[in-house]
Amino acid sequence: MGTKPKLKVNWPALPNSVRVEAEKIVTDLLNKTQESELILESILSLGRSREKELADPVADGAVYTPYPVAEQLVNHIDLQAGQSVCDPAMGAGVFLIAAAEKRFHLGQSIESIAKQTAGADIDAVSVEVAKLSMQLWSWLRGTTVVSFDGLVCADPLINPPTDWVESFDVIIGNPPFLGQLKSRTTRHKNRAEQLKQIYGKLATQYVDESALFLLASLNLVTQKGTVCLIVPTSIFGAASARPIREHIDEVMPMSGLWVGGRNVFTEAKVDVLAPILSSQRKTSVHIYFQKPEMSPTEVKRGNNGSWGAILANALGVPSIDAVIDKELQSEATVTADFRDAYYWLSERVEEDGFQTDRKKIGKLATVGLVDPLTFNHGKKEVRFAKKKYLEPVVVIENNPPNNFSGWLKRRRVPKILVATQTKVIECVVDEIGDLIPSTPLIIIEPTDPNKVWHLAAALSSPIGAAWAASEAAGTGLGANTVRLRASQLNLFPLPEIGSEWDTAADLAHSIQIDGGSEKTFRDFGLVINRAYGIEDDGLLQWWINRLP
Ligand SMILES: C[S@@+](CC[C@H](N)C(=O)[O-])C[C@H]1O[C@@H](n2cnc3c(N)ncnc32)[C@H](O)[C@@H]1O
Repeated sequence: MGTKPKLKVNWPALPNSVRVEAEKIVTDLLNKTQESELILESILSLGRSREKELADPVADGAVYTPYPVAEQLVNHIDLQAGQSVCDPAMGAGVFLIAAAEKRFHLGQSIESIAKQTAGADIDAVSVEVAKLSMQLWSWLRGTTVVSFDGLVCADPLINPPTDWVESFDVIIGNPPFLGQLKSRTTRHKNRAEQLKQIYGKLATQYVDESALFLLASLNLVTQKGTVCLIVPTSIFGAASARPIREHIDEVMPMSGLWVGGRNVFTEAKVDVLAPILSSQRKTSVHIYFQKPEMSPTEVKRGNNGSWGAILANALGVPSIDAVIDKELQSEATVTADFRDAYYWLSERVEEDGFQTDRKKIGKLATVGLVDPLTFNHGKKEVRFAKKKYLEPVVVIENNPPNNFSGWLKRRRVPKILVATQTKVIECVVDEIGDLIPSTPLIIIEPTDPNKVWHLAAALSSPIGAAWAASEAAGTGLGANTVRLRASQLNLFPLPEIGSEWDTAADLAHSIQIDGGSEKTFRDFGLVINRAYGIEDDGLLQWWINRLP
């Protein structure tokens, strides 16, 4: 049995469970009876015990990372011996242990690792657990205890320790995810104000706390350093994080991306990613997956270098290098209906053929009736307001209330109806203004009604599907479901005017009127791709496979 070295820890601050486990580890280290890997396991479990003590880890943004995940990320950033590492929201220090292990096995001394390890947490108890864990680790790998004085109780978003500025080779970790759309995790008004003062316009009202940690890390890392933080996938698509994404892209673009998926944490089912940022701007991005069965790959940044597009490419959506002339908003108005209209409609829908003295004003269109360039009215039974219909029509009293008569008038015009939550953009044309849409269909009204088939052809195109999948990839739904909002569709890319777009518009028209087969869709896809300047068979085949 060796002599017991002194641990620099505030023991009374530690939870009882952690103290008991730590004493057991100390005994194992003194007796040298346990295998070192088992002792490492026990050191790592101190963090899990701390996490269990927290009343609501999700609301505190304190869901700890499993050690194998921290190890994976440390390997992906290619951490070298001699580099300094900081976790700005370290919890019990799992990333710091993974980083210490890596540098130790590369030959760096424990004393030097201790000097080059920094971390912060706002929770003083977690800081004590992290200090304890790191000291026990140093004892395990060395001959005695080395203290880790760079671990502090601080909020690096507001008050980073002064000696932290631009001083770390690597910033790594899993900062708190505090979504601002849920009351459980919204930040206090004073804090929001402080963040605004520090980060200006980048600290938008609804931006997730984790995106701010990415931003703050840019000030802490050295010029040639690396930042790698686990974040919720939603910040890749959220409008509130767009200013931060664009700023980061300018200063420290993504050179790698780790795709975690939804099963990284046991306590919270949240889809996560870890962008790897470095100062060198590269034409491609390395992609790593948490799932071992998925091999690493590389994706080109392409014209559309948005984070959503990079993720979509990583998930198999072809990249879009199309000739884009305009956005949809310059040729049409895009709107979504309001819930009230749905409730009003729900009392005025009947099966066709049964109306008596009231006025039939048009066919009801629902998401379930819309397939790509196919309107299934009368062909497919559909549910609306808990009832089933084959040919639902809207029947109204002679004088509908004012607000609805105005709404109806605006709806009874030539338009395109777009279904959401699909695998490609599914839309149909209503040339004569005969269809009454119900939410959540999106309504596109062309400025020039003669262009309605052109716009429908563009929306229904393979490019349209790839664009929508890229937009959707960043929402956390994955790239397999296209969920579009009207505001996103405003930015839909349109091709250049020309004979190919004209032909595609004619083909779209004949598919909707006469019905489509795989061949007609393929012919349509080829022509509209050419209108976008694309000759790529891969995109066409990807789109065919996604068609319902
Ligand atoms: C998601 S946990 C992850 C902890 C650790 N990095 C891990 O991966 O296991 C986030 C940690 O951030 C801490 N935290 C929350 N807000 C913070 C802030 N503003 N500054 C520093 N730490 C914060 C929480 O106490 C929690 O320990």
